[in-house]
Amino acid sequence: MFEVLQNDTLAPNVHRMVIRAPRIAKARQPGQFVIVHPEEGGERIPLTIGDADPQAGTITLFIQAVGASTLKIVNTPVGGSIRDIAGPLGKATEIEQWGRVACVGGGLGTAVLYPLAKALAESGNEVTTIIGGRSKPFIILAEELAAFSTEVLVATEDGSQGQQGFVTNVLQDLIDNPDKRPSAVFAIGPVPMMRAVAELTRPYGIKTIVSLNPIMIDGTGMCGGCRVKVGDETKFACVDGPEFDGHLVDFGLLMDRLSMYRDTEAKILEELPK
Ligand code: FES
Repeated sequence: MFEVLQNDTLAPNVHRMVIRAPRIAKARQPGQFVIVHPEEGGERIPLTIGDADPQAGTITLFIQAVGASTLKIVNTPVGGSIRDIAGPLGKATEIEQWGRVACVGGGLGTAVLYPLAKALAESGNEVTTIIGGRSKPFIILAEELAAFSTEVLVATEDGSQGQQGFVTNVLQDLIDNPDKRPSAVFAIGPVPMMRAVAELTRPYGIKTIVSLNPIMIDGTGMCGGCRVKVGDETKFACVDGPEFDGHLVDFGLLMDRLSMYRDTEAKILEELPK
């Protein structure tokens, strides 16, 4: 059992939970994730480890309550426990010296981006962070990211914070400015957003890394549930990823696979006690 030490609401339906998990906290590297299994026989939820404190023996997870299982996790109060958390899983981010990098986060993807952007900045890269969301309440972690980013730029669809529009509009401006054009782009967020970023950078030949979060079951490369097509190869996001070259990912296939359980999920949500 894993004790919940902190549970804050960051944005509508988005929670930051600090959980006691000493072994995971010690072993974890940026980019890795855990699989949370809130109840016997229930769904397994892959979640990137947002932060970890090996001394305190804690990990921080950011969770968007979108379905029955994620609701169960975020409804665990401080002092309560989560049944099972497995990890750390996946490959750690390969931190290279890119010089100038743009880190682009959409919605909850910003939380997944946070440890990666921090690691890039700590190893000497100049990080410009771009955060997007529907409106101001959906912009998360701007202050935390500003602590190590050269600049944090915000885009909201309704213009209630930062530039009105999408993260791709802000990224285009950055690319068009010869003093600010990044050598690499890291994009994490909804699949359509990552796809749009990859299409934007493709003609400029700017290396673009995306972090994929497909349906996962065992998290060990055995079940094939998380398979994604990257270039001509089939990869398993849990062991080969979760980060991949955005110019090679088959986003269409990924979107089809992600929508496979939408009707079942809607039915379960309907049956939950209100
Ligand atoms: Fe089973 Fe990746 S989750 S192979």
